[in-house]
Amino acid sequence: MPPIPPTTLLRLEKSARAAAKKSYSPYSRFAVGAAVLADSGKIYIGCNVENASYGLCNCAERTAIFSAAAAGTRKLTAVLIYTPTKTPTAPCGACRQVINEFGPHARVIAVCDSPARLDTTLDALLPGAFGPQSLRAGAAQQ
Ligand code: THU
Repeated sequence: MPPIPPTTLLRLEKSARAAAKKSYSPYSRFAVGAAVLADSGKIYIGCNVENASYGLCNCAERTAIFSAAAAGTRKLTAVLIYTPTKTPTAPCGACRQVINEFGPHARVIAVCDSPARLDTTLDALLPGAFGPQSLRAGAAQQ
């Protein structure tokens, strides 16, 4: 994966910070903003959107990824998450799985309100992932 220019990373971070301001999180009071980078260079944003039926809460990462997918994106090169916390917040398991669908080798960065940051890859966060290739492997056995 080619390196992502620092200016693009800065744009991603600003986008995720702005997205967190739109968070609808009256139940957890935990605001999350996410920005994803498509292979086209376009950035898509998302925030967490909660629901009175708690199980229907949607994470910021998935909001951003579904928005990118709805715009036709099928390849993600980076996911950046912002939380207004002292330590960075890594994506939850469900979001790791959803990132894997479109960005199995994506860079994953989490920033917060301190200089601490997480800068890793989806490969490192979800080793041995179940993905499209798993279904193809199953079909080959039939
Ligand atoms: N949340 C995210 O938006 N992303 C994550 O990766 C972890 C959790 C949200 C879901 C819920 O609205 C709130 O944070 C508390 O779990």
